[in-house]
Amino acid sequence: MTAVRAVRDDLVARGLVDGLPGAFLAGVTRFGRPPQAELDALRADAAALADRLAAGQVEDADLPLLTRVLYVAGQADLLAASGVLSPMYDVLGGFRDNLARPLGPRLPERPSAGGRRWSLLGRRIGFPVGIPACVLNGSEAWVRHNVANGWNVLTYKTVRSRAHPANEQPNWVFAARATASLPPGADADVVADPWDWVAPGSATVSSVNSFGVPSPAPEEWMPDLARAVDAVGDEQLLLVSVMGEGNGPELVEDFARTARLAQEAGASVIELNLSCPNTLSASGGGVKPPLCLDPDATVAVVEAVRRALDDRTGLVAKLSWLDERRLAALVPRLAPLVDGIAGINTLQSRVRRSDGAPTFPGRELAGLSGIAVRDSALDLTRRLVALREAGGVHFDVVAMGGVTDPASFEALFAAGADAVQSAAGAFADPLLAQRCIGALGETLPRAVEAP
Ligand SMILES: Cc1cc2nc3c(=O)[nH]c(=O)nc-3n(C[C@H](O)[C@H](O)[C@H](O)COP(=O)(O)O)c2cc1C
Repeated sequence: MTAVRAVRDDLVARGLVDGLPGAFLAGVTRFGRPPQAELDALRADAAALADRLAAGQVEDADLPLLTRVLYVAGQADLLAASGVLSPMYDVLGGFRDNLARPLGPRLPERPSAGGRRWSLLGRRIGFPVGIPACVLNGSEAWVRHNVANGWNVLTYKTVRSRAHPANEQPNWVFAARATASLPPGADADVVADPWDWVAPGSATVSSVNSFGVPSPAPEEWMPDLARAVDAVGDEQLLLVSVMGEGNGPELVEDFARTARLAQEAGASVIELNLSCPNTLSASGGGVKPPLCLDPDATVAVVEAVRRALDDRTGLVAKLSWLDERRLAALVPRLAPLVDGIAGINTLQSRVRRSDGAPTFPGRELAGLSGIAVRDSALDLTRRLVALREAGGVHFDVVAMGGVTDPASFEALFAAGADAVQSAAGAFADPLLAQRCIGALGETLPRAVEAP
């Protein structure tokens, strides 16, 4: 039986077909109304699909529409049950609703490049593909899900020293018009409507997000993190991203405190989020620039965290795209303090809806990622690797930005990255790791002896 037929039978058995168009339209209009003609077309498509489902006349050609309608109607689990791709995170649900509920299929057998191993941050790991710090690694449940699907380099989502709510929804929107890479570090103006859609598996996906780095309280994330540490095997590495709050010495101390809490919970590598584009200023002045634009504050944080951690705990600094002058000035100061440098974070961009209203109410700036930032990621990775070679102090490079298919994974690895991660690409295709391992598992260079 085809997947479409299996999903259809499930929908019928659960009595869900009649309610589908209404639930779909409620989702489409959850964060605003599309232009009338677009709304009418979507309504007609969903109604016709429901008729075909009821009559048992759905075919493989219906799969793209069926996927969109079920995902937006809150029924992505039915797709996953039949192995059909859907975006991995429910953008209509809140941060908390999503914490224990990864979407998308889970493979019955974890993909692996056999016995081949690569070196990362002093460990020997399986195929070096992963998911960076983001809501796709927000809890133990996500880490387990991603490990099962072949992702080996997982960065537990940035946590803080106290509970912090997410920004008002929407928090994550497809940037469906951004289907090609912008020039490195471009000053981007993005048009993104909350009801936009990009088909799962698309290699040209981009997205914008404005979560504001939500975090559970340490009493909640520390035990969850300890379980996530236990959930990874010897082919995986779990990094934990942390961030401090406040300004000056208070910020430095809070970064160090949070890093210590993560270490106490069992983290063997701490990643410092020095590059968040979505931090709201406490004085109500809107969104702040990423911390790494201030080199002295950045070095003060990294030094303090290095002093606060055990010698055995690895340390990674995560940067935004930085221009030549900024990066060349910062890296020699960071290199002696860290085991790795990660980048890039999302590109802080102005984001509006097609009618000119802000996509994220009250926040004009948000983080752009996916294919739109691919050339920025390649550019920063090449310069990081060149600075590493010129500087004589070794650090590993964990690269991310615009990886949406095996070729874009390979490009960052070939540029000298030691591991490559994907957020927007994994969101659109939870099985992207499997595709990368399938395409490159036997040929990817720089493998090392297994331990
Ligand atoms: C929804 C979303 C949430 C993110 N949250 C974080 C975060 O909490 N900490 C962090 O360091 N980076 C965060 N990022 C940035 C990603 O880790 C990554 O650096 C960036 O998205 C570029 O990769 P991509 O083009 O594959 O999306 C987030 C990205 C997305 C899309």
